[in-house]
Amino acid sequence: MRVTHLSLTDFRNYANAEVGFFPGPNLIVGRNGQGKTNLVEALGFLSTLGSHRVSTDKAMIRSGQDAGIIRARLEYNGRDILAEVQLNRTGQNRAQVNRSVIKTRDLPRYFSSVVFAPEDLALVRGDPSGRRKFLDQLLVLRSPRLAAVLSDYDRVLKQRNTLLKSARASGVRGNQLSTLDIWDDRLVEFGSEIIDERAKLVQQLGEPLRAAYRAVVNEDHGPALMASLSILGADEDAELGVLPATVLPSAASVESSTNEIFRTALVGLRKRELERGITLAGPHRDDLVFMLNALPAKGYASHGESWSFALSLKLASAQLLRQESASGDPVLILDDVFAELDLQRRARLAAAIGSFEQVLITAAVLEDVPPALVAHTIHIHAGAVTDG
Ligand SMILES: Nc1ncnc2c1ncn2[C@@H]1O[C@H](COP(=O)(O)OP(=O)(O)O)[C@@H](O)[C@H]1O
Ligand SMILES: [Mg+2]
Repeated sequence: MRVTHLSLTDFRNYANAEVGFFPGPNLIVGRNGQGKTNLVEALGFLSTLGSHRVSTDKAMIRSGQDAGIIRARLEYNGRDILAEVQLNRTGQNRAQVNRSVIKTRDLPRYFSSVVFAPEDLALVRGDPSGRRKFLDQLLVLRSPRLAAVLSDYDRVLKQRNTLLKSARASGVRGNQLSTLDIWDDRLVEFGSEIIDERAKLVQQLGEPLRAAYRAVVNEDHGPALMASLSILGADEDAELGVLPATVLPSAASVESSTNEIFRTALVGLRKRELERGITLAGPHRDDLVFMLNALPAKGYASHGESWSFALSLKLASAQLLRQESASGDPVLILDDVFAELDLQRRARLAAAIGSFEQVLITAAVLEDVPPALVAHTIHIHAGAVTDG
């Protein structure tokens, strides 16, 4: 698929912008702080409902304004689709496709993109929450119906935590415990589906990840992914350096179902959960361990290796989406990535992404971008698209 046109209204530093894009590579250039990232962030948001920059939706509305609009014309399977979202400072965001209102959370059904950015380094080095978000966004891009399961799980988790807190504050009463049992059922139902879907995804990412890493680094450091599951006793609060309990993706289902393991874990944790007033097991406490050279990348891998791992993971997800999609390749968005890479990795990355239908690249310095990717160029200055 590809984006043919983007319109922004009161988004970040853009009052109004109209930008046309071409098939193949598109280069967005301009000095720092002019709005390059803002432009591609808008497209990333349409496809994932999130930002690769740490921020809230509100930060994306132009300061002083009540609402911002992202509107993109997309093309795939010979069809033209107009997807748009209005970000509101107060109240819910609103989404439309071809001028008909849709649920905002259904937007990722229409537009598939993969964003590469320096922030991806945090996938390797940062908190588990970033890795969970990575998996969940990819799950939703592949199976949009999972957006509902994820939001159901979040809702149940919040309600269950509220109940645990009030039980802690008031001293546990019998009727609170029976209400807790009801929430347990729902937590286990939605949570187990998320755990199983993530496990499948992790397994499917394995081979494309190895291939992407070889393509970018030209060496085999044995990159691998391992699920670390709280229902099997892995503890998010565990000391850094202690290797968490890990399982291979399918091991959980060998003897008993995820549901049963989850349920058993909750029984074992009940006393501690009531003491702490939070839910201690479930996909919201899980992690994904990145392995390189048989060691966890976090804490062991060099800066360059960590970067290559993050890039490879993004490439692997793009590859997976490409293999399965009925609407063509995901749009690749490379925000300021080439400046971070040495010449060899620049060239290898360029070769790895060259065949994707559309690639949007931002760069402050044109010379950082491998010549093979320099084609259609869009100049950005002070929140406006200029002629160069
Ligand atoms: N909500 C907002 N309203 C107005 N300006 C914003 C908003 N969010 C960010 N900006 C401005 O956008 C600029 C940064 O744009 P960015 O796209 O990150 O630059 P770059 O071209 O370096 O990628 C900064 O000047 C910042 O102040
Ligand atoms: Mg930028």
